[in-house]
Amino acid sequence: MADAVRFAIVGLGMGRPRADRCMKTAGAELTAICDLSEERGAAASGELGVPWVRNYDELLARGDVDVIGLWTPSGTHAAMAVQALQAGKHVCMTKPMDISTAACDRAIHEADSRGLLLGVDFEQRYLAPNHRVKRAIDSGAIGRLLRADLRTYWFRAQSYYDAGFPQRWRSRLDTEGGSLANQAVHFVDLLLWWAGVPERVVGCRGAYGHDIETEDGTTAVVQFRKGAVGSIVTTTCAVPNRGHEITLCGTWGTLVWSKADEATLDHVPEGSRSAGDAFRVDGKPEAVSGDLGAYAVPPDLPDNIFADMVRTIRTGSALQCDGREARRSVALFEAVYRASDTASWVEV
Ligand SMILES: NC(=O)c1ccc[n+]([C@@H]2O[C@H](COP(=O)([O-])OP(=O)(O)OC[C@H]3O[C@@H](n4cnc5c(N)ncnc54)[C@H](O)[C@@H]3O)[C@@H](O)[C@H]2O)c1
Repeated sequence: MADAVRFAIVGLGMGRPRADRCMKTAGAELTAICDLSEERGAAASGELGVPWVRNYDELLARGDVDVIGLWTPSGTHAAMAVQALQAGKHVCMTKPMDISTAACDRAIHEADSRGLLLGVDFEQRYLAPNHRVKRAIDSGAIGRLLRADLRTYWFRAQSYYDAGFPQRWRSRLDTEGGSLANQAVHFVDLLLWWAGVPERVVGCRGAYGHDIETEDGTTAVVQFRKGAVGSIVTTTCAVPNRGHEITLCGTWGTLVWSKADEATLDHVPEGSRSAGDAFRVDGKPEAVSGDLGAYAVPPDLPDNIFADMVRTIRTGSALQCDGREARRSVALFEAVYRASDTASWVEV
């Protein structure tokens, strides 16, 4: 393993299973773990056989770490990334990239100016069927995009918000952000990846069912740059959990996605399409099911963030989701929150 890329993982909540994943990834080596909690750190160190470091500065001073992986509370990601980049380490981090675009910009600038990598772990980006959806939309399988709607009906108990370390970070605006910034951000990332650049938003947010400072529900209208309109509805109050869905309507078809392997594509046959205008489709042409499997997936798609970092460090290939790309979902939720606070349209 002499030429393995050496990772350290910081934050051993969700970071704990990611540490297992790192150890199982070809070309990656886990050389240290870091957490403020002795209980978590000591237990994981025993199980993984790697040293636990409590102090982040001490971790950054280690010579046996090439990449710092951040799985700490969301509002800490960008600032901790800047520290790691300044110490000469590549960085990967969990979603969201941070809670504020200003913080994201500092990390992006730091990575750019030092020629270091900044990758964000949106796990949906590593699934081949999601790349087929992207390819299908880009190649006109549903025509010109008219609507892009996201629904996330999830459930989180009050105990979820009361837990988290340091205590109650999940209930706060500056550390978690809420149902849109934390839970739905996976699908906001997909929506923006597939539907393109959002121009402006209007919406509202609130804490409808939990005793929290942040939101457990948002409702937003999104106008996209290329003329499409969309909506985003998120909640963590759905009992029972009803899952999530993205619906994309174009001039001659509709794509519905709820899981990577459960997307459906229905469109009118080519002969019934007229000049890309939905309203000139004659009568009620019968839709046929499209074959998403026919759309190509990028060759050598890495299957997780560690494989992605290893490949990019070794070959200079592009990361599936770098800082600039991940900043887009932060800008979106930041704009929705501002729109809610000001009761007005906000540019994204
Ligand atoms: N599927 C996913 O991609 C997924 C799932 C869950 C959580 N997450 C993300 O992971 C992050 C953490 O969530 P969680 O549920 O694991 O939270 P958590 O509270 O269970 O764990 C966070 C850990 O970070 C540690 N920590 C905090 N500040 C630290 C510091 N300065 N130095 C070292 N350790 C520090 C804490 O001690 C704690 O153990 C969040 O950003 C969340 O959005 C991603």
